[in-house]
Amino acid sequence: MTNVIGQPLPRIDGRAKVTGGARYAADFNQKGQAYAVIVSATAGLGRITEIGADAVSGMPGVIAVISHLNAPRLAYGEHKGVIDPATGERLHVLQDDQVRFWGQPVAIVVADTLDHAERAAAALKVAYAAERPVVDPTGLLASAVIPETMRRGGDAARGDADAALESAEVKVDESYDIARENHNPMEPHATIAVWDGDRLTLWSKSQFVINEQAEIAAIFGLPVENVQVICPFVGGAFGTSLRTWPHVTLAAIAAREVGRPVKLVLTRKQMFYITGHRPRTLQRIALGAAKDGKLKSLIHEGVGETSRYEEFIEALTSVSGFLYSCPDVRTRYRLVKLDTGTPTYMRGPGEASGVFALECAMDELSYKLGLDPIELRRLNEPEIDEAAGKPFSSRSLMTCYDAGAERFGWSKRDPKPRSMRDGRLLIGMGVASASYPAFHAPSSALARLLPDGTAEIEVAASDMGPGTYTSMTQVAAETLGLPIESVRFSLGRSDFPPAPSHGGSWTMASVGSAIRAACIAAQEEAAKRAIADQRSPVFGASIDGVMWEEGRLRRRGDTASGQAYGDIAASAGGPIEANASASRDPDIASRYSMHAFGAVFAEVAVDPDVGTIRVRRALGTYGAGRIVNPRLAASQCTGGMVGGIGMALMERTVLDQRDGRPVNAHMADYLVPVNLDIADIQAHFVDEVDPHVNALGVKGLGEIALVGMAPAIANAVFHATGIRVRTLPIRIEDMI
Ligand code: MOS
Repeated sequence: MTNVIGQPLPRIDGRAKVTGGARYAADFNQKGQAYAVIVSATAGLGRITEIGADAVSGMPGVIAVISHLNAPRLAYGEHKGVIDPATGERLHVLQDDQVRFWGQPVAIVVADTLDHAERAAAALKVAYAAERPVVDPTGLLASAVIPETMRRGGDAARGDADAALESAEVKVDESYDIARENHNPMEPHATIAVWDGDRLTLWSKSQFVINEQAEIAAIFGLPVENVQVICPFVGGAFGTSLRTWPHVTLAAIAAREVGRPVKLVLTRKQMFYITGHRPRTLQRIALGAAKDGKLKSLIHEGVGETSRYEEFIEALTSVSGFLYSCPDVRTRYRLVKLDTGTPTYMRGPGEASGVFALECAMDELSYKLGLDPIELRRLNEPEIDEAAGKPFSSRSLMTCYDAGAERFGWSKRDPKPRSMRDGRLLIGMGVASASYPAFHAPSSALARLLPDGTAEIEVAASDMGPGTYTSMTQVAAETLGLPIESVRFSLGRSDFPPAPSHGGSWTMASVGSAIRAACIAAQEEAAKRAIADQRSPVFGASIDGVMWEEGRLRRRGDTASGQAYGDIAASAGGPIEANASASRDPDIASRYSMHAFGAVFAEVAVDPDVGTIRVRRALGTYGAGRIVNPRLAASQCTGGMVGGIGMALMERTVLDQRDGRPVNAHMADYLVPVNLDIADIQAHFVDEVDPHVNALGVKGLGEIALVGMAPAIANAVFHATGIRVRTLPIRIEDMI
């Protein structure tokens, strides 16, 4: 029962997931439920001049047509959760005639069946006084603004990077352009809303149920406790379900207006409109080095897009401050405001885009220097985080490179571009660093010891796929000394103890630490009860005179006697509960720079005649602290690497410049990697003990898994072909 942490257990929810037992938001159908369908704006900017509701309200099954003309005025009270933009104001849905971007909801049709609602929504004529939106940032770089909220990744400088670049012996100075991307999890956004008087229950896809609860309460002017959000399973999200988007409000409006439960599921197309996207970024990286390869100057300038009504920022340039040792560094981050919906976090937000530019530039520098790309990194390995002026809590970047190079067979690479072939195909091998902060957000948890000997754990956390159910159960089982089958972990209810958002790679660290604390608190409570209970074998002992072993409480030095949790709870007449919180020690946080690191290798085959690029092999090696479940961690990382293939070679939301319409808002034209695009992908972990990050020693893996993959592929493409592409995704036409 001990050492459950570190075991490669299969998912405890795996069977439920493959047999239909796992229920997602849209599965919680309610009696008497009606169906709402969103009507999305077919103008990219302007005003609604007419809503032809009368023509459709008589169609079969239609119950209501709700637009700004008849929607209730909502309170839209102040609420800014940690994942909401700190500057600006969220979209107020159906509150006025303004159209701010293509696809903005302009009406909802509610009907007795989904089919009836879809027919009426399709028939609803909406007229606009349309203007031409501005959706291309490239012409606006001169007017890019300093973000008002520079929470991370703002301007920073040490030394004089421009002067150092000027005098450097070897230079790379290039620009990078990464396309807008949309999250495309398998499960679409979905909400079922049910009102009972002024109490609202939402079964809703969410990575952050307590934030959705608070946001919807603020929008409707309700006390927070009047809103309950339930979401036991999330079918992938990648960041799109961190915020609460307008469809949740629309489902709640519809349910209140028609006085029935209402189900609202976004179409795939609508998921390109109102649920965020990875912002397009335009970047410049300039590297100056001495002939021996030592970095002398690093300049990283980045511009991201945001909406006109909110300021979305991400850590685009922050890694450039500490990944390598360099005396003179300057980073700058700016925003361009466009007529678009607000972007949001998408796996590896900021870092994935920023590290792409930096790691492609490093690769380019290695060729100019005639150095192996790994040796260039080794030469510039820093002793400390030079941006923060603090030691790293742990850093295994070069260990990852060495272990990865060995496994990948890097030594078989002929460094000369366009030198390796397999028949007609050009073969290339590329490598890149990955990094992501090891965050830890405050979390709480409840542990309950039951008379039947089992334990229950409850946290308002989420599991979008990484295996939270399993890994948290492992933490509880190990802390309590119980077999894994005796622990039931529940998440995804806003009335459970608060958890941070399920994002930022901090769930394992944050929720795991809280569960550990709650289990220890429950043990203390049980021990107190037992000591005070005349029927207990430990009756009358001091608290220091007893100990837990394998789920039994006994006197120290006495191995024969002992009492199990179940007996203590039974004697106490019912469950023994404890609620506890955990957060990072601020003193330790101020002393160390905490990040996970990794080295990512990719091998591509490029067809020189038709320009197709295939990732034949990829291997990521990560130093991310303690790995709670190696099987699920590897699954999490290979999934992120697949996302990196998408970023490198496929994903790109194309906007029609005339009206801002995403022209490829469907899975036929918005390409994501499928099985045939994914060959041999492996993730490995180096042993890394980090006593500082948190009580569990974990750093988190969700984001870093995507971070280094795109530059590794781009670098492999250069090695294969001699063609350096600095625009993502890399396309066939770039190759020929
Ligand atoms: Mo992740 S982008 O924080 O869901």
